[in-house]
Amino acid sequence: TTPHTIAIDGPAASGKSTLGKLLADHFGYIYFDTGVLYRALTYVALEQAVDLANAAALAKLAQTTNFDVLAPSIADGRQYTVLANGNDITWPLRAANVERNVSQVAAHPAVREALRDTQRQIGKAGHVVMAGRDIGAVIMPDAQLKIYLDASVEERAQRRAQELNARGRAISYNEVLADLTRRDAIDAANTFLAADAITISTDGRSPEDVFQAIVNLMGVEA
Ligand code: C5P
Repeated sequence: TTPHTIAIDGPAASGKSTLGKLLADHFGYIYFDTGVLYRALTYVALEQAVDLANAAALAKLAQTTNFDVLAPSIADGRQYTVLANGNDITWPLRAANVERNVSQVAAHPAVREALRDTQRQIGKAGHVVMAGRDIGAVIMPDAQLKIYLDASVEERAQRRAQELNARGRAISYNEVLADLTRRDAIDAANTFLAADAITISTDGRSPEDVFQAIVNLMGVEA
């Protein structure tokens, strides 16, 4: 049977977004990337000069900021549009200052709690592929299909560097590698491999290949 809720967890640049999009398109589900919420909060906090060590202030900001994630309605190459209090912040979410600070923001338990209900609500609606770090274990423990993607930090850095360069950001492989290594270390405390998750290494595999493997596996299990 087709799973109504699919959780994809794993470290940065392990292939969650690409796989998530493929699965969502395949089933006609929505794709929700929870990293966007943490990035959006970080962006707004930086803009309002909120102290990133102040968990209470960040949690309050999370509660008082109106975040909207809109599915693409026009063919502009976006997977979604992110609004904070009505302002389009989709591209700034990928900027270096957000990338540098997001893990510190996401590490606060009060911040995670403040963003938990939003994620759970989206999960409850069903027909969703949700990607993150703690989706299968914390946000949607009842998800019918849980996938944990992994890949070596070197391969992930290569992918991310290519992606950023293609988008016009001049950043070297070594810089990306250093950033991912640093982010992995902070994120580790909130990255979970759920007991009932299928673990897939994406090293040397294309997203289509991983997608096929999962579809085949589901065919066998159905
Ligand atoms: O997935 P992405 O790289 O966009 O996530 C950005 C950051 O948000 C991660 O490095 C992590 O600190 C945080 N995050 C999280 N839990 C999630 C998704 C993202 O802590 N479920």
